[in-house]
Amino acid sequence: MSPTKLTSAVRAGEKALGGPFDMAIANAGVGVTGYAAKDVSDAERMMQVNYFGMLHLFHAVIPGMMERRTGRFAGIASIAGLRGLPTASGYSASKAAMQAFLEAARVELAPFGVRITTVNPGFIATAITEKNKFRMPFLMKADKAARIIIDGIERGARVVEFPRPMSLIMRFVRLLPAAVYDRVVGGYVRREVGP
Ligand SMILES: NC(=O)c1ccc[n+]([C@@H]2O[C@H](COP(=O)([O-])OP(=O)(O)OC[C@H]3O[C@@H](n4cnc5c(N)ncnc54)[C@H](OP(=O)(O)O)[C@@H]3O)[C@@H](O)[C@H]2O)c1
Repeated sequence: MSPTKLTSAVRAGEKALGGPFDMAIANAGVGVTGYAAKDVSDAERMMQVNYFGMLHLFHAVIPGMMERRTGRFAGIASIAGLRGLPTASGYSASKAAMQAFLEAARVELAPFGVRITTVNPGFIATAITEKNKFRMPFLMKADKAARIIIDGIERGARVVEFPRPMSLIMRFVRLLPAAVYDRVVGGYVRREVGP
């Protein structure tokens, strides 16, 4: 959605509700797998929807929240943003961009009473994962995931990361030195890598 369309949609929503939003969640996202050297168009689209889509929503709602000195904003990033995942480089990069932006904004906006939450789900059973051919560890049902996300945002959590075992694994993986990481995840890259 273009920034102008998104702002108009936000204003129309506020009008229908009879007041401003006190919570906004940037959820829209696309995920396309493929090797890093394949092409730029998928990576560009993921950055456009996942990262810039979130930014446009942010700019449509945050100034009002800052003025009112209250509000909650969340971005649905992913555990895929915690480290560069082979065959998902464009997706990983777009989610890492979201995480970095949200972290910086969280610190900036705290004095204005605006809480920012980064949401990092693992594998959730939705349309985006339906097409995955590989085994998805700790796959969670969408309604359970939605509950965890909403509870986290409502209590003002800085980061909501789940399912717990997936989060712990990724936190550990994040600490691995590059050479060890390469060896561990290298085993998952089965097909020949090429454009
Ligand atoms: N499922 C997972 O395992 C998982 C894990 C980590 C993070 N996430 C993230 O969770 C979020 C929700 O994904 P999901 O799992 O619920 O997948 P999904 O069912 O495919 O939902 C994606 C949503 O994004 C919207 N969207 C896509 N492109 C858009 C665009 N250009 N403009 C406006 N809306 C657009 C879709 O709207 P339409 O239906 O109208 O196209 C849909 O509502 C995404 O950000 C995804 O990256 C998912």
